[in-house]
Amino acid sequence: MSATAVALVVAAGRGERLGSGGPKAFVPLAGRPMLDWSVEALQQVSVVGEIIVALPEGFEAPQGTIGVPGGAARSQSVLNALAAADPGADVVVVHDAARPLVSAALIEACIAALDQDGRWDGAIAAAPVKDTVKRSADGIGVLDTPTRSELWAVQTPQVFRREALERALGRPEAELAAASDDAMLVEADGGRVRLVRCQSENFKVTTAADLALAEQLLGAAAEVKASGV
Ligand code: CTP
Ligand code: MG
Repeated sequence: MSATAVALVVAAGRGERLGSGGPKAFVPLAGRPMLDWSVEALQQVSVVGEIIVALPEGFEAPQGTIGVPGGAARSQSVLNALAAADPGADVVVVHDAARPLVSAALIEACIAALDQDGRWDGAIAAAPVKDTVKRSADGIGVLDTPTRSELWAVQTPQVFRREALERALGRPEAELAAASDDAMLVEADGGRVRLVRCQSENFKVTTAADLALAEQLLGAAAEVKASGV
């Protein structure tokens, strides 16, 4: 039997690059706050018990979830949410509210990938990189070109064994502040992380153009559902 999982949804960011004047997770998207799409997907996953949401100040957790205050950095929001999680849950699903196109199937695939054997501390959603990628320190001069076939664009959900995530979140403050995902902290801590191949459609809403595309995709999906096709 699968271990009980808890889900942590980080929703406390300011959404500065979106520039909507309020926190990104609460921006209306296809008729509901962006956050609600991720919560709905997580609620469809039977092994997920609690859903804890790290919130911006002044906002409330969606029905059926537990709200905690977010932190100044993303990893602090994860830490705050984990501190409120059911101590009996030994698998932790971390998800960005900024990825409203996540599906229950992808969450289940990541949990199953972690469960498959005892080898992995983390299983993370990732899509092969489509563009050729260059490295540059100053945004002008090219340093080098990593081999594209080895590059993966990492998303959430990211699923971890709880002990591994807890240890990783105990890394030095500067590392936590700079971390753009949780897997990099687990890797730095010596943990073994595997990729779970997924579609690039689970993109992160960062800019106004991303929001418009998400609106189109989720709006169309909602219409199909309503018409019973
Ligand atoms: N996040 C969080 N707490 C923070 C910073 C970010 O919970 N202190 C969450 C965001 O709400 C988002 C996810 O982490 O769901 C990914 O962050 P990002 O896409 O960068 O969102 P924002 O930080 O809100 O956007 P921006 O960087 O443009 O301000
Ligand atoms: Mg941010």
